[in-house]
Amino acid sequence: MSVRKQILELFRLNRGSYLSGEDISRELGCSRTAVWKHIEGLRQEGYRFDAVTRKGYCLIEEPERIEEKAIEEALQTSFMGKNIVLLDEVESTMNEAHRLVAEGANEGTLVIAEEQTSGRGRMGKKWHSPKGKGIWMSLILKPRVPVYFVPQLTLLTAVALCRAVRRETGIDIGIKWPNDLLVRGKKVSGILLEMSGEDERLKYVIVGTGITANLTEEDIPEELTAVATSLAIEAGTPVKRETLIAAFLNELETLYQLYMENGFAPIRTMWEAMSVTLHNQVRVKTAQGVIEGRAESLDESGALVVRQLDGEKVRVYSGDVDI
Ligand code: BTN
Repeated sequence: MSVRKQILELFRLNRGSYLSGEDISRELGCSRTAVWKHIEGLRQEGYRFDAVTRKGYCLIEEPERIEEKAIEEALQTSFMGKNIVLLDEVESTMNEAHRLVAEGANEGTLVIAEEQTSGRGRMGKKWHSPKGKGIWMSLILKPRVPVYFVPQLTLLTAVALCRAVRRETGIDIGIKWPNDLLVRGKKVSGILLEMSGEDERLKYVIVGTGITANLTEEDIPEELTAVATSLAIEAGTPVKRETLIAAFLNELETLYQLYMENGFAPIRTMWEAMSVTLHNQVRVKTAQGVIEGRAESLDESGALVVRQLDGEKVRVYSGDVDI
């Protein structure tokens, strides 16, 4: 066990009591400077200590951690989230999920991390994933559909998440095409699907979801404050991350089964009802250039149908929308 962990254990064993730097250094056989550095390190990780001269330190509060048991208790699925891999710090839960598939992980396996050091978003963007406050997770799915159905799964995921957030928080949340969740025009969640296919057949898809659940104003980088918010900021109260994760999986499994049985049509109707993009003037940045016009509908494949100023209708399959 590392010295930092041993210090933490000592405080947990002596909950409510003050321990001096000298006592700790004697107990663990390290210098008082080392003890002080580790306590500062723990503070950086979100632990709160009270410090009193001549008494020492008392552990007041530990950072909140996602508890697997609390997710299980709220889960009503048959396979999604039945195997949960909870990690502390990873580069990206997407990498972990790809690795787990290679090791033979089952469909429905969910990887969750408290922190991502290289979280990634759509179109090569970075995804800010600070410790202990957000929901950073990747789900392994192995649907028997052709690879070109993946955009529909992206839209399906957005619908599931939107329903879960509305149910759990009551926040008025909407979907910006294809899969950003917005509250009062600011982003609270992003979805990234990464797949592996052979010929036209999908081997597996990783559904990556980032939710800025309990980030505070200070946790949001300055350059993002105009475009990003969190559920806690919007609701005025923290959200229980475990319940939201379970609610999302419950919704996702129901919609996934509906999709497998009835196709995309019912999902499309739900997506359209939750959309904040449709019937608005939009500016879509695509790899081929910028498309401007009125977002009219979603076609049967999941593409956005935009009527340009000259009256011509174009279908957009991937891109970034400015509403
Ligand atoms: C986007 O809006 O651009 C998509 C963001 C997706 C972020 C999530 S967080 C969990 C998973 N791991 C990652 O590295 N990215 C996704």
